[in-house]
Amino acid sequence: MIKNDKFGWRHIGPRSHEIDEMLKTIGVETMDELIEQTVPENIRLKEPLKMGPGLTERQYYRKIHDLAQKNKVFNTYIGMGYYDTITPAVILRNVFENPVWYTSYTPYQAEISQGRLEALLNYQTMVCDFTGLPLANASLLDEATAAAEAMIMMYNTRTRDQKKNNANVLLVDEKMWPQTIDVLYTRAEPLGIELKIEGFRNFGFNDKVFGVLVQYPNSNGSVDDYSALVETAHKIECKVAVAADLLSLALLTPPGEWGADICLGSSQRFGVPMGYGGPHAAFFATKDEFKRNLPGRIIGISKDANGKRALRMALQTREQHIKREKATSNICTAQALLATMAGFYAVYHGPRGIYSIAARIHAIADYLSTEIEKLGYKQLNKYFFDTIRFSMPRHVKVEDIEWLSVELEMNFRYFPNGEVGLSIDETTNIDDVNWILEVFAKAANCKVPKCSAYPGEKSIDKTFARTSSYLQHEVFNSYRSETEMVRYIKRLEHRDISLTHSMISLGSCTMKLNAATEMLPLSWIEFNGIHPFVPKNQAMGYQIMMEELKSDLAKITGLEDVSLMPNSGAAGEYAGLMVIMEYHKSRGECHRKVCLIPSSAHGTNPASAVMAGMEVVVTPCDERGNIDVEALKLKAEEHKDDLAALMITYPSTHGVFEASVVEVCELIHHFGGQVYMDGANMNAQVGITNPGIIGADVCHLNLHKTFAIPHGGGGPGVGPIAVAAHLVEFLPSHPVMNNGHVGLHAVSAAPWGSASVLPITYGYIKMLGGDGLRKATEVAILNANYIAHHLKNNYGILYTGQNGRVAHEMILECRHLKQTSGISEIDIAKRLMDYGFHAPTLSFPVHGTLMVEPTESESKRELDRFIETMNSIFAEIKEVESGAADKTDNVLKNAPHTQDMIVVDEWEHAYPRTKAAFPLQWICENKFWPFVTRIDDAYGDRNLVCVCPPIENYQ
Ligand SMILES: Cc1ncc(COP(=O)(O)O)c(C=O)c1O
Repeated sequence: MIKNDKFGWRHIGPRSHEIDEMLKTIGVETMDELIEQTVPENIRLKEPLKMGPGLTERQYYRKIHDLAQKNKVFNTYIGMGYYDTITPAVILRNVFENPVWYTSYTPYQAEISQGRLEALLNYQTMVCDFTGLPLANASLLDEATAAAEAMIMMYNTRTRDQKKNNANVLLVDEKMWPQTIDVLYTRAEPLGIELKIEGFRNFGFNDKVFGVLVQYPNSNGSVDDYSALVETAHKIECKVAVAADLLSLALLTPPGEWGADICLGSSQRFGVPMGYGGPHAAFFATKDEFKRNLPGRIIGISKDANGKRALRMALQTREQHIKREKATSNICTAQALLATMAGFYAVYHGPRGIYSIAARIHAIADYLSTEIEKLGYKQLNKYFFDTIRFSMPRHVKVEDIEWLSVELEMNFRYFPNGEVGLSIDETTNIDDVNWILEVFAKAANCKVPKCSAYPGEKSIDKTFARTSSYLQHEVFNSYRSETEMVRYIKRLEHRDISLTHSMISLGSCTMKLNAATEMLPLSWIEFNGIHPFVPKNQAMGYQIMMEELKSDLAKITGLEDVSLMPNSGAAGEYAGLMVIMEYHKSRGECHRKVCLIPSSAHGTNPASAVMAGMEVVVTPCDERGNIDVEALKLKAEEHKDDLAALMITYPSTHGVFEASVVEVCELIHHFGGQVYMDGANMNAQVGITNPGIIGADVCHLNLHKTFAIPHGGGGPGVGPIAVAAHLVEFLPSHPVMNNGHVGLHAVSAAPWGSASVLPITYGYIKMLGGDGLRKATEVAILNANYIAHHLKNNYGILYTGQNGRVAHEMILECRHLKQTSGISEIDIAKRLMDYGFHAPTLSFPVHGTLMVEPTESESKRELDRFIETMNSIFAEIKEVESGAADKTDNVLKNAPHTQDMIVVDEWEHAYPRTKAAFPLQWICENKFWPFVTRIDDAYGDRNLVCVCPPIENYQ
């Protein structure tokens, strides 16, 4: 039993007497008995997790606070894709720190996600406006991976002739961020793409070239004219992608206006803290003709059944995920919460505000350029936005600049050739300007000049000056006062269901508590104000925390070492598979490329394997939903000479602990392959079993599922990989910072991925401790079996283990209901909204079903409410089946019911309004009103509109 001063007592939903009751209800005496019936004996841990006891919330607060004090917050002018920024407090408090925004799920159930869909539509509109391109997504993982997505998109859209010629060369300007180039190397090689890294003026075009990638302003901070380059590239039908600084485009002519096909980059400096590297949303915009090739999710406008404007995710749910091994990108979770914040930043500042921020930055950079030149330095960027670069006068030593700046708690950028760079940001003020001048003056033995008046605003040189307008839509011109802004945020917030409303029982997605104590440190400047490329001695709090976290995750997985770099589950899959490929390569077995993937796998598994240059071979499941071991054996043997890996999810995506798993892993090893475990279901393993004991070589963890990082409406994600000892040497490195690994090129832009959200997982582990972690897993399994027990008669549980138990989730059968009543799983999902619930996972991994995962954080009371709701819906289905309710005009087919549907003067349906809106008594006390009713997806895809439409289009 967990003591009531422990965090576990709060994290876990059911009280201990309820746990006893629930165990009895499902027919066991003790928790141990349930676990024995559920988890195969041969994979159960013999020893408890050696993690120490859990801390109280107060103890953890002190611990993390002490660590925070070990991070030193300097003024950092390193730039290189990361800039200090001011998160408007109204956004910090009402979005970033607001659980409605951070605990909501990816908006697949669009009717109850209209708030965040609008916020993301704003983001897309802002990206389109700034880049000068008509179509944008929302959003990608970071700038470097967005550049890789651009490369792959250009490659996939080669002309017929280019494909015939096997045009596989991408010309990359040498002045891109080093981390971008490094990630491009990782991603290019397995696809057979050759990178030519040269100065863009020397690009050699020939029929092998399919695309061009340049940066604007470039990595030195210089703004170059690429219009001639675009013309040359387009003449031979090569596409041009441009990595740009979004804020600079408020002043510079946007790439879309000089012909770029793609524009991408980071939206970090739109109010999202640096956070030691992330998470930040990357943007990606392109021309309309590439709408079916755009990676990531696109928010589009459609209408609901009553003709009301309604937003939803367009195209790509179909395009990307169903295509599986034919997918052109493996992006699933991206950085939705951060895109939401960046969009709100644009809403709050509006066109004039953003211009002003950009023009102030430019004015300061320009002022410093002039003043520092007066001290004898030479500023080397003829045209620039925020970044100036100096060569030293002969008598000045760079080391002097370095120590003088550190004395004043500032970080500058030091180029390998001895030049010094400064990137100015929106936080730079007069004092900062004077300190910078002091360093340069003292190093040059000059009198320190004094800036006494703010340099004001300055527009960019007319060669590059933007003339077109941006952010003209009403949404960017309405919310200047904080009162108005907070009301706008709240208005959107009220349209969304999140964990603050009710259980979100998404199978495979583990929507558990994101505890407030875990979240608190994220708002502290000691964590979010740190640039990822500062010397490590300024980030000791981070370094200590990350080392401990890696060691804890290694223990939990039973594996040797961990890379924190991947920014999502799918990015982890990719990184892990690449590690496996490197391993085979190191043994002279490059030909091992076949990746066996069971048919039940998540869509990202085959997509990641393809991105890693593997050949996907799908293996079947048997009638109980388990891997068909005999069929797998045959496939493994058939491919024994070229077998690279097996990808499995455990417990399976069917919600079952398969007894054969050890045998399966041995089989793969026998044939020379490696076992990759998708860790999406680690919530059923922690403390009871682990990937190491099962026999996996690599496993990614979804920290944004199992380890309490919130889902954020589709990101932040953190997908670290844990590997066995023989694979440690292949873990991804970083070109700028030593992240402790020396293997692959980078898989993400930042050395430690989304570092600033790691305190959440760290806190989760430290506060639960070894016992609490195990308890959480046990209760997750209990909660699932409790629901299964109560729903099995009405719906049926599709798959169970040998003893009739489910793991931490279950698949509810709905197909028989459709046959007898015409009511589909989609109708059930929409009807759940009328009861105030988000639907479970729909039609994954089995079409026509619902997959339910309650998690350990849901109380018995909430489970009972859900069970009552599901059984009430079942009764409604039976009414349709028996003819007591109309086949089409019924509460299910018309669900969800909005307030304006209910409050009409003439009610025309065949059922009463109370039944529509208040089907159970307790709903009257806490009614959530869906903002729109059933959305017409097909209409939205046929009439694709992905930016805020002109105001006259609103009804
Ligand atoms: C089983 C499984 N694998 C992989 C993923 C991909 O993870 P992410 O969305 O973080 O990329 C998911 C996400 O839903 C999943 O459920």
